[in-house]
Amino acid sequence: MRCDDRALPRKTVKTTAMTDVFEIARRDLEENGFLDMEVDPTLDLFEEIEKLKREKNAVILAHYYQEGDIQDIADYVGDSLGLSQQAADTDADMIVFAGVHFMAETAKILSPDKKVVLPDLKAGCSLADSCPAPLFRLFKEKYPDHVVVSYVNTTAEMKTLTDICCTSTNAVHIINSIPKDQPIIFAPDINLGKYLVKKTGRDMVLWNGSCMVHEIFSAEKITKLQMRYPEAKLIAHPECEPVILDKADFIGSTSGLLRYTRTSDATTFIVATEPGIIHQMEKASPDKVFIPAPPNNQCACNECPHMKRNTLEKLYLSMKYELPEITLPEHVIRDARRSIDRMLEVSARAGLV
Ligand code: 13P
Ligand code: SF4
Repeated sequence: MRCDDRALPRKTVKTTAMTDVFEIARRDLEENGFLDMEVDPTLDLFEEIEKLKREKNAVILAHYYQEGDIQDIADYVGDSLGLSQQAADTDADMIVFAGVHFMAETAKILSPDKKVVLPDLKAGCSLADSCPAPLFRLFKEKYPDHVVVSYVNTTAEMKTLTDICCTSTNAVHIINSIPKDQPIIFAPDINLGKYLVKKTGRDMVLWNGSCMVHEIFSAEKITKLQMRYPEAKLIAHPECEPVILDKADFIGSTSGLLRYTRTSDATTFIVATEPGIIHQMEKASPDKVFIPAPPNNQCACNECPHMKRNTLEKLYLSMKYELPEITLPEHVIRDARRSIDRMLEVSARAGLV
């Protein structure tokens, strides 16, 4: 027997086995949220992902709360506004969204002809979940004269019930762009809503939703940290509760917080948001010290479990097999797009790019 002949059946068996593994992973995709396949541990995933980017003309968009490796391989790392601007403008054929489900949906709404993949479909958002569209529809009926402003952390269906979206970067501009005599419903984040009422002086009707990550910071433990590091600046995301925001030296979106740490003369910061952002803070200011604000739970973990469902392995598989893919009905894309386009217009006018 020639060695060629021996090699052939082995290769065939291997290919068939691989196909089976993929078919099983695809069959179970909905249940698992991702392609549950083993990735060869000897692969250099950074190299492989770069190769796939070129082969497929793909772009990787990552939020600041992703793990460091994912941020480092991404073509763009940013906040919710920056990510949607990138998704609207990209020339890529495939958008690989390293973030959570509502962000990938927003990318699909803005670029409906492009393939959008999310490494793990179960990377959801407690804030988006706190405002189910059918319940909000009933709530909205009670305020027929109100304009609906929704934080972008909502489902695509919620965006169809929204007049104008906002992110934490542009929220003040969005509210101020609405005539003063026009009543507003703000959804879904009550903490951001209260902050905006204070900042803009507008008396808005607020939906009572919140983010599981930003509402668990402990005011007591933060006070103790401030006593230990009296020179430290407390910086906080506006999704935090008022008791935290009242103590903060600076309040801002993830990109706002990052900018503040870069430009501030201070050298120590207590960071009250998801700690993934600290990766970029440390890269931008290697000599400064960043202390994650402590939560009031026992395990001392304030990572977003949804954001952290994405891993480099899942990202690689999602690019290789172009799954899981984000799909939306055409009418949802059409109706949801209006509220996002309005947000992008106001942001562009305000120079928020
Ligand atoms: P920004 O990055 O827009 O500040 O939003 C934070 C957030 O909660 C994303 O889930
Ligand atoms: Fe949602 Fe909060 Fe996680 Fe952001 S940090 S994705 S708002 S649960």
